[in-house]
Amino acid sequence: MFRLDGKVAVITGGARGIGAGVTHALAAAGARTAVVDRDPVRAGSPPGRTMTVQADVADAAQVEHAFAAVHDAWGAVDILINNAGVAAREPFEDITSDSWDAVFAVNTRGAFLCAQTALRYMRHQRGGRIVQIASVTAHQGALLGHAHYAASKSAQLGLTKTLSRVCAPFGVTANAIAPGVIRTELSSATLGPSTLAELGATIPLGLGSVDDVAHAAVYLASDEARYVTGITLDVNGGQYLR
Ligand SMILES: NC(=O)c1ccc[n+]([C@@H]2O[C@H](COP(=O)([O-])OP(=O)(O)OC[C@H]3O[C@@H](n4cnc5c(N)ncnc54)[C@H](O)[C@@H]3O)[C@@H](O)[C@H]2O)c1
Repeated sequence: MFRLDGKVAVITGGARGIGAGVTHALAAAGARTAVVDRDPVRAGSPPGRTMTVQADVADAAQVEHAFAAVHDAWGAVDILINNAGVAAREPFEDITSDSWDAVFAVNTRGAFLCAQTALRYMRHQRGGRIVQIASVTAHQGALLGHAHYAASKSAQLGLTKTLSRVCAPFGVTANAIAPGVIRTELSSATLGPSTLAELGATIPLGLGSVDDVAHAAVYLASDEARYVTGITLDVNGGQYLR
C-alpha cells in the first residue's frame, strides 16, 4: 500500500520543516524527490535518488526553470507538494500592504505558479497528484491576528477546489492538507515557545510532528487515493473539528 516507486515528486520548501519531512517520506515510499527551495537544504538528504533546485516559488521564471530542470533530469513530474510558505507574526493592526503582499506572493502566487507549471507536464502524462499544504487557520482564522497568513491559506483551498475540476480530465487529482500546530522553525518563530506550549496543552492530541503531515501527503500522492480529489485533509490532533 502507498508505494510511489518510479514516481517523480517535486516538493517546494523541502529544505527544512514539514517539506523536509514530506520529502523523506515520499523517498521512503520509493519516489525520486526534487526539492525546490529558495534556501539550501538544511535537513539531511533523503534516501534514494534526490535533487535540489534553488528557486523562489513566487517568481514565475524561476518556477518555470525549476520544473524544466526536474523534467530534463528525470523525464516526468508526477507529484507536486506545494509546501513552501511564510508567516509573519504581526498583530492585525500592524499588517502593512507590503507584508500582506509578501505573504500572498509565496503562499498563494507561489502555489498557483507551481500548480499551473506542474499541470503542463502532468496533462501530457495523463496523470499526477497535486497536494497543497494549507493550514488549520484557513478554517478557524489566525489565533494571533495575522490575517494575511490565514487569508492566504484559505485562498489555497479555493485554488485546490478549482484545480480538482481543471485537473480531473487528465487523471490528475488536487487535494489540500490542513495541518494544525506542527513543531517546526516556522511555528516556533511565529507563535513563540510559551504560546506554542500553551496551545499544545489545549489540543486533544497535543502538538503535531512533521511525520504526521508527511504520512498524509504520501497517501494523497498514492495510486490508492485516485478517487479522492478537491478535499482538505485535516491533520490537527483534534484542534479544530468541522
Ligand atoms: N508548522 C506549522 O505549525 C504549520 C501549520 C500549518 C501549516 N503549515 C504550513 O506548512 C508549510 C511548511 O511550514 P514549516 O513549518 O515547515 O515552515 P519552515 O519555515 O520551517 O519551512 C518553510 C520552507 O519553505 C521555504 N520557502 C519559503 N519561502 C519560499 C519561496 N519563496 N520559495 C521557495 N521556498 C521558500 C523555506 O526556505 C523553508 O525551507 C507552510 O506552507 C506552512 O504555512 C505549517
